[in-house]
Amino acid sequence: MKSLDQGNKVIDESKQGEATVLNTNVGDKKVYIESYGCQMNFSDSEIVASILQEDGYATTRNIEEADLVFLNTCSIREKAEDTVRKRLKSFTKLKRNNKKLKVGVLGCMAERLKSKLLEEEKLVDLIVGPDAYRDLPTLLEEIDGGEKAVNVLLSMEETYADISPVRYGSNGVTAFVTIMRGCDNMCTFCVVPFTRGRERSRDAESILEEVRQLSEQGYKEVTVLGQNVDSYLWYGGGPKKHFKNLSEIEKASSINFAQLLKKVAQVNPEVRVRFFTSNPQDMTDEVLEVMASEENICNFIHLPFQSGSDRILDLMNRGYTVEKYKERIDKIKEILPDCAISHDIISGFCSETEEDHQATLDLMDYVTFDYGYMFNYSERPNTYAAKKLTDDVPEDVKKRRLAEIIQRQREHSFIRNKTYVGNTYKVLIETISKKSDEEYLGRNSQNAAIIFPKEDAKLGDYVNVLVEDCNSATLRGKIVS
Ligand code: SAH
Ligand code: F3S
Repeated sequence: MKSLDQGNKVIDESKQGEATVLNTNVGDKKVYIESYGCQMNFSDSEIVASILQEDGYATTRNIEEADLVFLNTCSIREKAEDTVRKRLKSFTKLKRNNKKLKVGVLGCMAERLKSKLLEEEKLVDLIVGPDAYRDLPTLLEEIDGGEKAVNVLLSMEETYADISPVRYGSNGVTAFVTIMRGCDNMCTFCVVPFTRGRERSRDAESILEEVRQLSEQGYKEVTVLGQNVDSYLWYGGGPKKHFKNLSEIEKASSINFAQLLKKVAQVNPEVRVRFFTSNPQDMTDEVLEVMASEENICNFIHLPFQSGSDRILDLMNRGYTVEKYKERIDKIKEILPDCAISHDIISGFCSETEEDHQATLDLMDYVTFDYGYMFNYSERPNTYAAKKLTDDVPEDVKKRRLAEIIQRQREHSFIRNKTYVGNTYKVLIETISKKSDEEYLGRNSQNAAIIFPKEDAKLGDYVNVLVEDCNSATLRGKIVS
């Protein structure tokens, strides 16, 4: 999953772990929520806000007036956890000034460290894992009397399907809709299967209902979210099964990702649809064909590849080879010639040689990605890699390799951006540009961010924009009729 920066194209890891503060105003007690990491966490915070709203809490942007401070945390890399620990330390004075203030840690760090986090971070009152948010009102009662409380139970079934997220902090134009939780892939470097539990899909009808509501509220774009959307399968509930293991009745009523995507797109042709994240081992031609047939599904695919070396991919337990990845790329380009593609790469995984590193650069050259998210390998406790492999690439070598990868991506982003110059795109206006009040930021179907003068257009409008200029991160243009 990607971090939530919707500004410019992200081509390095610096955007990961940025916090967004959510804000709304209902109830008499106040909660301040900061979310870190992937979109799933931001989406979960909207669910938490909804549960707390029922319990009489309004959200506030002003931490000083909060009765409750929540950090919805990320464990994906050590750095993400360091950021949260630092933030927790910064609450010492706040707690001293407001003896009643309670601090809660939610999300992946809560799940990974469990009650150990209470020993490590003394000012934390509450630890709640990603599947336990319904228990928040009870846990809050428990800590009211000065106790500490923990619920980190993972579930095989929880999808919060019936909870209507409170979309505070939203631009009113774009929204996330979670379609599944957890991950069963067990990539050897990854902490997510431990922190977010087993994969389970959400009731298709509840997803469609949420999209209908967003459409009625005037939203113009939905991004459906899952760690591995291609393996979405709804057949009436319960733990994940593969299609081949379904009964005949379950098969007949089941809905896979391609079918869901089509239904989501058909809710309203004026509402764009995006999705995150695809996995090379599961992405089907059926999904690509649905993308080609539905005009409002955006021409953009995020397809992490992690490494260009078969030996490393095998060590990572990624379930595909370089050849298979290339075959997926070729198919995307055949069925969707205008499709933009982005990636994730982990540099410096256990035993990675210069030759393996070169193979990663070669695969980048094969594809010419629009952009990507690039990381140095960070060993995570309890993963297979931490237990059985050696994190043996020296820091300076990791650093140098990552810099080479980022540099290559800059070149490729510039090449891809130049292909947009001189063309006109249907652009959805998302926000006012960070740099100038006189300009908007919008995106074309390929997810490229374009900056242009406002004219008399409004947020949420679709406008035709002629792209006139670019660098490796941003496109600039003007509205044309
Ligand atoms: N299923 C999600 C993965 C979420 S993690 C997806 O495919 O997007 C997002 C990215 O973080 C992964 O693709 C990987 O590139 C990176 N990542 C995961 N674990 C990591 C680790 N231990 N060190 C460095 N990067 C990691
Ligand atoms: Fe992690 Fe691999 Fe799942 S990267 S989230 S285990 S697909």
